[in-house]
Amino acid sequence: MSTTKFPISIEKVAKSKLQNIDFSKLAFGHIFSDHMFICDYKEGKWQDARIVPYGPFSVEPSLSVFHYGQAVFEGMKAYKDDKGDVFLFRPTENYARMNKSCKRMAIPEFPEALFDQALKTLVDIDRNWVQPGLGNSLYLRPFVIATSTGVQANPATEYRFMIITSPVQSYYTTKEVKVKIADHYSRAANGGTGFAKTAGNYAGQFYPTALIKEEGFQQVIWTDDATHEKLEECGTMNVVFRIGDTLISPPPTERILDGVTRKSVIAVAERLGIPFESRTITVTELTEAANKGTLKEIFGCGTAAVISPVTAFSYKDKEYQLPNIQDGYAPRIKEFLLNIQYNKSEDPFGWRVKI
Ligand SMILES: Cc1ncc(COP(=O)(O)O)c(C=O)c1O
Repeated sequence: MSTTKFPISIEKVAKSKLQNIDFSKLAFGHIFSDHMFICDYKEGKWQDARIVPYGPFSVEPSLSVFHYGQAVFEGMKAYKDDKGDVFLFRPTENYARMNKSCKRMAIPEFPEALFDQALKTLVDIDRNWVQPGLGNSLYLRPFVIATSTGVQANPATEYRFMIITSPVQSYYTTKEVKVKIADHYSRAANGGTGFAKTAGNYAGQFYPTALIKEEGFQQVIWTDDATHEKLEECGTMNVVFRIGDTLISPPPTERILDGVTRKSVIAVAERLGIPFESRTITVTELTEAANKGTLKEIFGCGTAAVISPVTAFSYKDKEYQLPNIQDGYAPRIKEFLLNIQYNKSEDPFGWRVKI
């Protein structure tokens, strides 16, 4: 990545909101820190990079993103260690993935060196918003929206890149996570946008997820649109299965988001000597393993929850309980990752980036 410094103008808040925040009662992603980053794309180039107080801005009703949904985003976190140092986790993965998403959605790519500089400057300015303690972090939400006006169904010529940040605690609080395997709805299709972190992928998940929630489940396990046989993702997380002593996770295809946490889980598993297979796994293989008693664990992995173990799954009205095992792989891998993120251990992979 280039080391060129980009000009970023900075306007700080007159008075921080920090004193008014009760950090013991945070709902995920509802409170935002004092500042945000903005950069606009006009006349063929990204320009006017600035950090300003967090707040609303006015736009026209014909704003392109409202009508045709050209919008991409990223999700990452800043962590604080016991000494008060602040770290990012593998940020270059997110810069690269956002540009993959931009390309698919016909949005101009954002210079990765400016992304890096903007993110680090913003987190540094709001570093008091990163609370210490395991599970606490500052969630970072970079995103790009189409800002041209007019309702022609064309790619926009103007865009806005922003980063907003939100203090959070651990994402999932419920102990029980029951999932239902999709046998009708899909989140992605071949040739579609499943691998991109684009708004419409999430909008399309809300209705089928609401239906399974009414039945008492927390997440959908998404399957491939053509056969509904291949297991793909768990809600908005990548999914990992443990059959016998081996972890298996579907590889990121054009239907699956290439998760940073999943990649990290693979590296950690290898280091812990846990066999990991990145390959297609079908509903048939899963239910057969459950019937034989060789299915030991299922977990989702993603930035928000790190690792989220599943307690039961259902397929076509038949429910399967996961065994309550001692010494699961999920908690071991989670602890390894958290220790790196919170600077509680060596970082053998060089993933931590100090701010
Ligand atoms: C659809 C989907 N899959 C997987 C993930 C996990 O990706 P990551 O580990 O990079 O957070 C996410 C985001 O968190 C997601 O939205």
